[in-house]
Amino acid sequence: MRRKIIIGNWKMNYTDTEARTFLVGLKESIDVSSIDVCVAPPFTSLKSAREILDGTGISIGAQNVFYEEAGSYTGEISADMLKDLNVEYCIVGHSERRKHFNETDNIVHRKVMTLIENNIKPIICIGEDIDIRNNGNYLEYIENELRTAIDNIDIRKVKDMIIAYEPIWAIGTGKSATSDEAESVCSELRYLVQTMYGTEVSESIRILYGGSVTSNIAEEFVHEPNIDGFLVGGASLNMDFAQIIKNTEVKK
Ligand code: PGA
Repeated sequence: MRRKIIIGNWKMNYTDTEARTFLVGLKESIDVSSIDVCVAPPFTSLKSAREILDGTGISIGAQNVFYEEAGSYTGEISADMLKDLNVEYCIVGHSERRKHFNETDNIVHRKVMTLIENNIKPIICIGEDIDIRNNGNYLEYIENELRTAIDNIDIRKVKDMIIAYEPIWAIGTGKSATSDEAESVCSELRYLVQTMYGTEVSESIRILYGGSVTSNIAEEFVHEPNIDGFLVGGASLNMDFAQIIKNTEVKK
């Protein structure tokens, strides 16, 4: 049985002062005994998050990493720096990074490799835009993104990775996919992992849905057999996040 996980992607929101206040409130409001929870604040609050959440069972994630180990890469952050702060997860390939920072499938793959070498679990985001969805060949597109990202990975590490199916047309729009749409893609992605790494891996790896997730969506989608939790953007910045966790956990 895969343990469900809820991940909050704060994006470029909250100063460190605001982050501290929010996290103190959050840790009082949630119970993580039967579900995994991860918050991914901006880099500037990773250390605060570590301090505040220490001993709570809530994990810390980063929103990005660079694939080089160290050196003259002004503005970048290495996996080693994240590891030193006990960062457990790192988002890669988010559509906003693909769009605004030209992150390609090959760059995503390099980042995945670097994270794995440093024992940080990648959260790999994939998903189609509205044109690709309407053209009807979206599955091929998403599968290609995933295949490139997880190609040639040490099989012992693959099951620790997290895949997040995030249709771009559903991100930040208030218009999520339907539970059938999300389940059907997540089930195809699990099948792809099976063809690449076998059944044991495909049955262990967690596949999430993301895109305008609210507590109501969580309650509705949680019954789907191939959706193991949610990657939450906007709603991770307020106390609906606690309700999303509750709604996912009780319906297990
Ligand atoms: P959203 O963002 O929940 O605000 O749609 C999801 C994401 O971008 O990860």
